[in-house]
Parts: sequence; C-alpha cells; structure tokens
Amino acid sequence: MFIPNLLASECNFMLQKSILYEGKTKIAYLTDDPEKILLEFKDDITAFDGKKHEIIPGKGRTNALISAKLFELLEKSNLNTHYLNFVEPNAMLVRKLDMIRLEVTCRNIATGSLVKRLPFKEKQVLNNPIIECYYKSDEYHDPLINDDHIKALKIANEFETEQMRETILKANSILQKFLLERKIILADFKLEFGRDSKGQIFIGDEISPDSCRLWDKTTLKSLDKDVFRRGELNVKEIYQEIFRRIVGA
Ligand code: TMP
Ligand code: ASP
Repeated sequence: MFIPNLLASECNFMLQKSILYEGKTKIAYLTDDPEKILLEFKDDITAFDGKKHEIIPGKGRTNALISAKLFELLEKSNLNTHYLNFVEPNAMLVRKLDMIRLEVTCRNIATGSLVKRLPFKEKQVLNNPIIECYYKSDEYHDPLINDDHIKALKIANEFETEQMRETILKANSILQKFLLERKIILADFKLEFGRDSKGQIFIGDEISPDSCRLWDKTTLKSLDKDVFRRGELNVKEIYQEIFRRIVGA
C-alpha cells in the first residue's frame, strides 16, 4: 500500500493508515480519527467516464489548493462543508462523510449538456440559475434524475434534497461574486454532498477547475477542464492560470 510522504512527514498522528477509497482523481485515506479522512489529489485528469486520461504534473497540488481556498470561502459564509484544513503538498483533511450518490449542478450560463438537451443557445445567460441532479454512476453514465427518482431510489429524502438545493444556490452567489472579482465568470459548477455520523449534510468532494466551468470575463475562454475535454494542448498552462487568479502566485 502506498503511504504518501506527507502522511509520514507532516501528520504523525495519521501514520500508517489505509486507503478508504481511490477514485479517478483522488485518494481518501483513513486517519486515527474516525471522523476525519485525508483526501489526496492526484495528477490524473479524466473525462468521458474516464475514457480520456492523462497525467498533468502538479495538477493535484493546484486543484487541492484551489479547492481549499474555495471551501474556506464557503465556510466563512457559514455553509457546512467537509473541509478542515489544507495538508502539504496536495491534500485536504476533511470530515468523513457518507457520500450521497448525486452530482448536484448549478448553471448560470447555458453550455455543455444543457444546450444538447434543451433549446437554450450556447452562452445564453439564464434568467434564473438552473439546478440539476445527476445520478453518480459511470455504469449508467451519470444520468439526469429528478426529485421523484431521488426519493424512490432512497438516495436522499425530501428534506435533504431541498437542503442541497438551497446550499448550492447560496454557494453559487458566493462563488460568483468571488470569481468575478478575479475576472472569472462561473458558467456552471457541480457539488457533491454527504452525511456525517449524525446525519447532518455537508458539501464534500472538491470545488476545482475539474468540477466548474470558469470563463475569462473578457474573452469567455475556458479556464477549466473543458480545455482537456476538447483535446486542447495547453491544459497545464490553463490550470496554472486559474490557480494564479484564485489562489495567487
Ligand atoms: P455538463 O454540462 O457536462 O452537464 O456539466 C455541468 C457541470 O458539471 C460542469 O460545471 C462540469 C461539471 N461536471 C463534473 O464536475 N463532473 C462530470 O462528470 C460532468 C459531466 C460535469
Ligand atoms: N468526471 C468524468 C470523468 O472523469 C467526466 C467529465 O468530467 O467529463 O470521466
């Protein structure tokens, strides 16, 4: 089993713990505290259910730092997130959550899968934010699902579904304002949620250029994973540029 150096060097209390879960771009490690896990960001970048895959050296650290910064911002605005602190060089210490198998998205501008499904024009500013939930499953290709599906599949109850909706709307306003000050338009983004041991809902996972559409305010050029999805060659430079704007040099 691979134990990252940072566990040994920076977090003695976490020494010699096992992998709880390994995903396409992150590894979750158990710690000595049953309520906390260490989330390590890998340098991998994937798209289309993992069919497209590359390694971008340094991307793990960049995304971990961006994610930490955006979680800190939401925490300051009293939103409940799993984030506890950043751990050098590429990880976050977070609350251990039982993850809800949903990708909850919020859209401010029409693009991506929305314009393929409905008669919105590409880059049309939406009259109201649109929230959509997708069932998180590579096997089913993350299908769009509605509140009745969520209830019938017992993915979340009605109260939790409403709580996730309210939370993503608040997060949208906070993130939009913060990003606009950095000349970035938040076209759309995705959050994941989970429950702690008491059943309370927290925002989990990450908030990064992998999970948001971030456009330069003037040129409307993508500063996010769409660059990789489209097969452009400057992915590393784009991640460095969005890092510079959000976290600073
Ligand atoms: P979509 O337009 O492809 O449905 O994407 C909506 C938002 O969700 C966009 O900000 C990118 C994000 N997203 C993920 O974080 N993970 C995914 O697997 C997909 C497809 C989209
Ligand atoms: N998250 C998915 C993947 O890694 C799809 C995507 O983001 O386009 O394959």
